[in-house]
Amino acid sequence: MSKKDPDLMEKIVSLCKRRGFVYPGSEIYGGFAGTYDYGHYGVLLKDHLKDAWIRSMRDQDNIALIDSSIFSSRQVWEASGHVSGFSDPLVICKSCHTRHRADHLLEAIGVQADEKMSEKKLNEIFDAHRKELKCSVCGKKDFGTVQAKNLMATSTLGKFEEGDQDLFLRAETAQGIYINYKNILDTGIFSIPFGIAQVGKVFRNEISPRQFLFRMREFEQMEMQYFVNPKDASIEYERWKNQRMSYYETIGIKKDKLRWKQHENLVFYAKDAWDIQYEYPFGWNELEGLHNRGDYDLTQHQKFSGVDMSYFDEETKERFIPHVIEASVGLDRTMLMVLSDAYDEDEMNGQKRVVLRFAKNIAPIRAGVFPLLRNKSQLVEKAREVYRELKKEFGNIIFDNNGNIGKRYRRQDEIGTPFCITIDFDTLTDDTVTLRDRDTGEQKRIKVADLKEAIV
Ligand code: GAP
Repeated sequence: MSKKDPDLMEKIVSLCKRRGFVYPGSEIYGGFAGTYDYGHYGVLLKDHLKDAWIRSMRDQDNIALIDSSIFSSRQVWEASGHVSGFSDPLVICKSCHTRHRADHLLEAIGVQADEKMSEKKLNEIFDAHRKELKCSVCGKKDFGTVQAKNLMATSTLGKFEEGDQDLFLRAETAQGIYINYKNILDTGIFSIPFGIAQVGKVFRNEISPRQFLFRMREFEQMEMQYFVNPKDASIEYERWKNQRMSYYETIGIKKDKLRWKQHENLVFYAKDAWDIQYEYPFGWNELEGLHNRGDYDLTQHQKFSGVDMSYFDEETKERFIPHVIEASVGLDRTMLMVLSDAYDEDEMNGQKRVVLRFAKNIAPIRAGVFPLLRNKSQLVEKAREVYRELKKEFGNIIFDNNGNIGKRYRRQDEIGTPFCITIDFDTLTDDTVTLRDRDTGEQKRIKVADLKEAIV
């Protein structure tokens, strides 16, 4: 199937709902923009992606895991620069009141702009192109001025008296890592260089959440900060860039759908920043960011907290504030990539089918086990026995005796199950089953005793 299908995104959204991967948030109340709820197969897929990411970090030997809180002292976000400088440029259509990202409107007509530019600069660029820009909803060319809108979501947690301030829900998991860097060092297990990784929910007041799981207001990040001697930062940055790009092969992503893009407009403290981009159904866009952040974050927290963040290297007798290499990717954006990459339509046995060609290690279900006929107790019993054995080994095995075999195959194809196993009357005499391959539809007879090996 051609991946340039203009309806691909719609088809993925509809399959996700139909087969229980992803539902729109608060759907029965008309929806709640920027939120999605994951269904059974969505949770399984997401868990496999999270596990694969954590495993790839733990393979490194010197990566610690943490799970920091969503709420923290307000000072964390003052020190990090999020309170004063974490914003997106909002521009409102005066005619229909639709809110737009000014940089996205400019980019759509080929004008370079991004959220890191100052409000003044963005207004200058916007004014220079005002006549060419029209609202995508009502078509009018009647925008207000560009305003930098902070992305932090606020909360009244712990606010009871006048004078108590609002708090922030975390806008990235990275800050939880910086403020625990000393704690991890003090456990004595790790020394520089070492990394800290975490997976967790974050919240951003996105102006226009869109493109399904691509831009949400509540989403999960998988972030790793690697703390290094400043003199090793460039080498480690290149090593991490290579490591992260090759990781995507291990979860089955097509190589030609991934590419590097360097940031043109760096924030003042960043030494270098590259994105791994994926070609989503709506075009190339960011999947993961790799950043060489220098000593900015630890220095800021040292300044605001008064806690010494320096590190003393016993071997070289050097004292320094470690530099940080960051690898940061959204779990939901990874889901969207994996779903887009796996989605396919073809014809099998003269019938059109939709199939998700997930890699085996991330597929929500590894194999479906079916009795050929649901009303033959010997077949059902034997199928249940095979199912239980495989479930003990793999966990994600499904038993299905609903509808005819063709329908069961279609159902498993649509949720991306790599193998289907059918128990029939021959099984009862020779202990063989039919093993069907999702991608080719090829069926072969195989001994029950060889099944575990065959579906690994
Ligand atoms: N600590 C660095 C950081 O947070 P970021 O580029 O703002 O950097 C990192 O976010 C990753 O989080 C992105 O590459 C993307 O995968 C994901 N992400 C960012 N905003 C998102 C959103 N609104 N919805 C879904 N994923 C998002």
